[in-house]
Amino acid sequence: MRYECIKCNSKFDPHEKLYTCPRCGGLLEIELNLDELAEKLDRKRLKTDPLGVWKYRTLMPIFDDSKIVTLHEGGTPLYRCDRLAEEVGVRELHVKYEGANPTGSFKDRGMTVGVTKALEFGVKAVACASTGNTSASLAAYAAKAGLRCVVLLPSGKVALGKLAQAIMYGARVLSIRGNFDQALAIIRRVCDEADDIYLLNSVNPFRLQGQKSIAFEIADQLGWEVPDRVVVPMGNCANIWAIYKGFLEFDATDITGGMPMMTGIQAEGAMPIVDAIKRGLDEFLPVENPETIATAIRIGKPVNGPKAIRAIRASGGTAECVSDEEIIAAQKLLAKLEGIGVEPASASTVAGLRKLVEQGAIDGDERIVCVATGAMLKDPEEVIEVSERPLEVPAIYEEVKKLLRWQHAP
Ligand code: F0G
Repeated sequence: MRYECIKCNSKFDPHEKLYTCPRCGGLLEIELNLDELAEKLDRKRLKTDPLGVWKYRTLMPIFDDSKIVTLHEGGTPLYRCDRLAEEVGVRELHVKYEGANPTGSFKDRGMTVGVTKALEFGVKAVACASTGNTSASLAAYAAKAGLRCVVLLPSGKVALGKLAQAIMYGARVLSIRGNFDQALAIIRRVCDEADDIYLLNSVNPFRLQGQKSIAFEIADQLGWEVPDRVVVPMGNCANIWAIYKGFLEFDATDITGGMPMMTGIQAEGAMPIVDAIKRGLDEFLPVENPETIATAIRIGKPVNGPKAIRAIRASGGTAECVSDEEIIAAQKLLAKLEGIGVEPASASTVAGLRKLVEQGAIDGDERIVCVATGAMLKDPEEVIEVSERPLEVPAIYEEVKKLLRWQHAP
């Protein structure tokens, strides 16, 4: 196992605590010795062991099993959604429901690995900047590990459920008068200067190794087949890369064959990567004041932008942006047609898919997986805001009965 810079290809010892390339500043990636691991993989057990991140232990970059910090993350449902598929106009649609993770988002997959690495590195504390979910997840795993936790959040812009989680799990929560991009710049500096605080934002390549298990589980749940396309919301742009990487590793070890077209969705008010993909640029232009109802992906300067661009181009995928109205409509479709409650960022995948099908950019004959990254109750205020209020009625039988006339409608 080694760190490898995606820009200059320099390699580094994985026992060193690194975030970016010490030579050129580029993003680092963890490269496993896949030929060796392919021999070690117990393929029979892969067919029988229960689903979850640690089912794929052989492909996880951990040195010391006794340090593993787990809340039993992963093993989330892959729902086949026929009613939604018909509505959107595709043959076969599945939703990977990451809201079923211990803290309600996919971040737990990254934190089980990331916080385990924090213990391996022997640090005293962990830290992150966050639009909400990362902080909730990190706080929970830090609690489980007995580590101190510091989180920086953009003031007034974090969904209530996420904020409640970070506080209750015992993190030191600082509300920054600024946006996520500014908070991240500050916490990166703090962690660069303090040797005993480990940064667990998605610039940390070990965290993404946990998140690649989304790809492993999708293939596993589809009977060891790769879907034609995987649709992912993009914020700081790490998850789309992690999922791409997971499929690459399964392909390289012959567990599956082929790659899905990685398709990234951003909100209209925060779409630097969609812009770069559409214009064929190698580098993206940051958005100074990102804005969207999907606060999880309200990010203008995604640190992992170069990885997302690479994953989308290399897999023959695409990218699209969606308006807040389209996100809300998709959130309601998921809930009302399939019983799947998601937060707005997750709904952007279905909104984006719908738009791409309407444009004719996606063939309706594909087998598609949308990754629903976080649970609906992460952001209860948004749900109430976009929904009809309950009707208040007197506690009188006749009054209630009158209002339920639809029961007798033909
Ligand atoms: N969906 C949800 C629910 C998220 O919380 C995030 C990111 C994303 C999608 C985008 O993933 O950043 O890997 O492209 N949330 C981060 C946070 C930024 O701080 O919780 P990404």
